[in-house]
Amino acid sequence: MIEIKNIDFSYYEKKIFKNFSLRFEKGKFYILLGKNGSGKSTLVKLLLGIEKLKAGEILVGDKSLSKDLFEIRKEIGMVFQNPDEQIISERIDEELAFAMENYGYSSNDMRDRIETILKEINLWEKRELRVSQLSGGEKQRLCIGSALVLNPKILILDEGTAMLDEKNRENILELLAKLRDRGVTIILISHHLNELKYVDEVVYLKAGNLDWQGRRDEFIKEIVTGNLGENLELPPNFYIAREIYKRKGVDITKNLFKSEEVAEYLCQLSSKI
Ligand SMILES: Nc1ncnc2c1ncn2[C@@H]1O[C@H](COP(=O)(O)OP(=O)(O)OP(=O)(O)O)[C@@H](O)[C@H]1O
Ligand SMILES: [Mg+2]
Repeated sequence: MIEIKNIDFSYYEKKIFKNFSLRFEKGKFYILLGKNGSGKSTLVKLLLGIEKLKAGEILVGDKSLSKDLFEIRKEIGMVFQNPDEQIISERIDEELAFAMENYGYSSNDMRDRIETILKEINLWEKRELRVSQLSGGEKQRLCIGSALVLNPKILILDEGTAMLDEKNRENILELLAKLRDRGVTIILISHHLNELKYVDEVVYLKAGNLDWQGRRDEFIKEIVTGNLGENLELPPNFYIAREIYKRKGVDITKNLFKSEEVAEYLCQLSSKI
């Protein structure tokens, strides 16, 4: 559990959070939404202790960020948007081994763990390549692997799927959902609303305020019925669902991520015209 309690934060004169509170429950998969500049990355930097709170506190489990930053950092795996700013090794296995070296793993355990992770992130076939020979998306998958290698209790991806194509994004999101099933808390910062398919909960920030928080299905329903989402970039299936709801009063939220069923509904609708 992460509890953010009544925090204040500003960059010099620019206030970002004022008396802001938020809870993340253990073992849930969250998407953190909000338009550019709404404070998503700042929130992550505060959680990691990269930026310092001006007031309030952050608790992770029974530990407080102000007292136990080092312990808390060990429990958090982090993936940023730009892999080139994160990768430090030239070899793929070294990059994954790096995190483990300081934690007393035997070389056999390290080899097994690296193999498991490389298969999970779909880089096993490329293990002999140098990091500089990987594509942007492959490097991003390597960063996800590095974040996973120490079995974090919390995994945060700040637009950490941004460079992935559709298929690899789906693979990674399915992997994240599997980790959630194993009890890992996932916080995914993203602008891709179709990633809602995989998550449990939504946190929607607007200019440093919590605009909406709750269950994924409720959030989608709010968008489809037109109560929310004016500032979000809606993918086509969301627009179609919204129009169907507006014109026919029918809510197709449950089938939103199944393109064939959305198409089927549209065909039925047009055959009646
Ligand atoms: N180091 C900094 N110094 C001063 N202002 C900053 C700094 N970092 C961020 N900001 C400002 O704080 C606000 C929130 O930025 P933040 O990076 O948290 O937004 P975000 O929600 O992550 O946006 P995006 O979707 O573009 O990544 C922005 O207005 C930004 O200009
Ligand atoms: Mg950001």
